[in-house]
Amino acid sequence: MSSLVDRVAIVTGGAMGIGGATARRLAAEGARVLIADYRIDLAETNVERIRESGGTARAISTDITSASDIEAMVNEAVGQFGSLDILVNNAWGSKEPDGTAESISESAWDYSVDRMLRAVFRAVKHAVPHMRQAGGGAIVNIASVHGLLMAQKHLAYETLKSAVIGMTKQMACDFGPAGITVNAICPGHIVTEGGKKHWARNPKLHDLYKAQYPVRRTGIPDDIANAVRFLVSAEATFITGHVLVVDGGLTVQLQENIGIAQAKHMKENPDIEFN
Ligand SMILES: NC(=O)c1ccc[n+]([C@@H]2O[C@H](COP(=O)([O-])OP(=O)(O)OC[C@H]3O[C@@H](n4cnc5c(N)ncnc54)[C@H](O)[C@@H]3O)[C@@H](O)[C@H]2O)c1
Repeated sequence: MSSLVDRVAIVTGGAMGIGGATARRLAAEGARVLIADYRIDLAETNVERIRESGGTARAISTDITSASDIEAMVNEAVGQFGSLDILVNNAWGSKEPDGTAESISESAWDYSVDRMLRAVFRAVKHAVPHMRQAGGGAIVNIASVHGLLMAQKHLAYETLKSAVIGMTKQMACDFGPAGITVNAICPGHIVTEGGKKHWARNPKLHDLYKAQYPVRRTGIPDDIANAVRFLVSAEATFITGHVLVVDGGLTVQLQENIGIAQAKHMKENPDIEFN
């Protein structure tokens, strides 16, 4: 795959998790990476890690729910590195519980719209003029399998990840003529630094999750970083408006836990015939 030397990338939420791995992966291929994250301490730690491996990175304290922070983020990338070629819209964090239309608070809904939709809209709004100037670019929006299949009591997350997919397709149409590709990635369950602690406390639940994947494992941040790296490469310039599902086959299989429940039921009730 072609190198990313001389390309300039922004990764929102690049301090840790999927964004952290993506920032390291792009930098390892030669890109100069701006990590935009509101956890500036963790962002600086990731920058150090990248520099120790011979890469080039900087960090900027950015709250993606702030219009002025997003504008400053894009200006910082262009000011420090001279151009902007790659934008990875990845950051996400929750403040209040999700729920149903009946239960979710107005403020939780508004915050979700800000951090998932307005943040992507604003980042793209400010990034595109610089990409045009550079003769093209690549935008990757991190959506989720939850944007494809709905789970109960997740109105904000499921709706807004679906909307990120819609926005991706629309932006691909709008910016294709300028040589800018816009794609989405839908990760399955990815065990991040935070996720590791959760699964360590709930190993049986993790086993149940793993059993639902045809590949019999949950994902790791590098699974997504590798997909981002491909979508921003010179080899992927004819791919746009695409939704790349990176989920170990989770969403192509009828729910495996129904199979697990059925097997358990058959064991407990050997006289029952299922066919
Ligand atoms: N981990 C999974 O299983 C999974 C699955 C599907 C989709 N995703 C998506 O992948 C993306 C990354 O998720 P993750 O699991 O790596 O998350 P994570 O919690 O491990 O990391 C999120 C990063 O975003 C930063 N962040 C959060 N809110 C921010 C804000 N308002 N402004 C700036 N930075 C902010 C955090 O500081 C952190 O560095 C998200 O869009 C998430 O919806 C994750």
